[in-house]
This record gives sequence, structure tokens and C-alpha cells, in this order.
Amino acid sequence: MSLDAIHARQPDHPVAAQFTDRWSPRSFTGRALSEAEVMSLLEAARWAPSASNHQPWRFVWARAGEPAFAAIHQALTGNNLVWAGRAGALIVVASKDAVTNREGAEVANRTAGFDTGAAWMSLALQAHAMGLVAHAMGGFDRDRLAQAVGLPAGHTLQCVVAVGEQGAAEALPEDLQAREKPSSRRPVAEISRHGRF
Ligand SMILES: Cc1cc2nc3c(=O)[nH]c(=O)nc-3n(C[C@H](O)[C@H](O)[C@H](O)COP(=O)(O)O)c2cc1C
Repeated sequence: MSLDAIHARQPDHPVAAQFTDRWSPRSFTGRALSEAEVMSLLEAARWAPSASNHQPWRFVWARAGEPAFAAIHQALTGNNLVWAGRAGALIVVASKDAVTNREGAEVANRTAGFDTGAAWMSLALQAHAMGLVAHAMGGFDRDRLAQAVGLPAGHTLQCVVAVGEQGAAEALPEDLQAREKPSSRRPVAEISRHGRF
């Protein structure tokens, strides 16, 4: 990491290194992840907390080289199409948006997106712990991705995660090379208030 990048990741307060060391590169080596590696990522996601333990997260995964990987990749848009094809696996993150209440009625799960976000972060931190990198993408064609993964009714596509072994920045097109560095964050004082907004 360059000195600039290290400076960008200085925490305001003491925090476990996994939070500042994790970031979202775009360069991957192209090595396909093993199924065991993918299972470890999904295992971490599985243990995320959720409202009433409904576990609304759903994942569709494919390893580099598989036809399903190509189908998911082709549903990405913009720059994502350029770099994510070198990932070791692509993981589609969706949420199941209804739950059955105590009366047996199907009702909206108000926290499905929030809970699924927690699961994605667990997956990303597990990738980091395994020496891999994970990069979430909201840039995809909704209809095309739904078709590629056979999205069932009542589910929402949240993002696609590119995960794999980090590659060299130099392997990226020039415009993306310039962006291949960890970003900074707003100070804690800006995102929090003591007692009341
Ligand atoms: C839901 C979501 C959607 C995102 N969509 C994209 C995307 O389409 N393309 C992309 O290159 N990065 C995407 N990102 C990555 C963010 O830009 C990145 O996480 C953010 O700039 C913070 O940087 P860091 O992850 O390196 O700390 C997305 C991240 C999230 C959580």
C-alpha cells in the first residue's frame, strides 16, 4: 500500500485492523476460487444477525470458468464489465422480501435489505481473513441478472460481489489504475451525534 493509501485508512479511534485493511480493489489474478473457499465465504454470511432470525439473504454463486459465471458477468454494466471478469467467483446477493407471520400470512419483511447488507459485510470480512478481496457491485442490468440466476418472485437483487485473489494494479486499464487505492471516510464526528440529531 502507498503512503497516501495508508494515510487514507487511519482510524479516528482504536479499531480492529480488519475494518480499515479491507477495501474493494478491481484487479484480480483470474484464479478460480475453489468450491471450499466459496463455502467459507457463504458460511460467514450465514452467521449474520437478522430480525427475528429470518435470515432473508439468498446467494447464487459461480466460479470463474463456469457458464453461470459468464451469465452473471454479462449482466454487469459499465466499468464493472471491464474488470469483474477476472474475479475468482461472482456471488449474487438477493433478499427474500416476505416472511410468514404468526397468523400464517405473508407480510413484508421490513429489514430484509438491512439484514442482507450485514450478511454481505460478513462475507467481505471473511474474504479479507482468507487473504482474498471482495468488491460489491450495484451496477448491473436488473432484468438480465434476474434472468441469469432465475430469480424467484418475492426476491430483490441487492448486489453482485466479485471475489478472488487481488491482482496487480498495472493489469487494469489506465483509468481504473488511478482508482485502485483504498478510500477514506467521513469522521465519526460527522456521522454520529450524542443523544439526538
Ligand atoms: C451496494 C454496493 C454497490 C456498489 N456498486 C459498485 C459498482 O457498481 N461498481 C464499483 O466499482 N464499486 C461498487 N461498490 C464499491 C464501493 O464504491 C466501495 O465499497 C466504496 O467506494 C468504499 O470503498 P472500499 O470498499 O474500498 O472501502 C459498491 C459497494 C456497495 C456496498
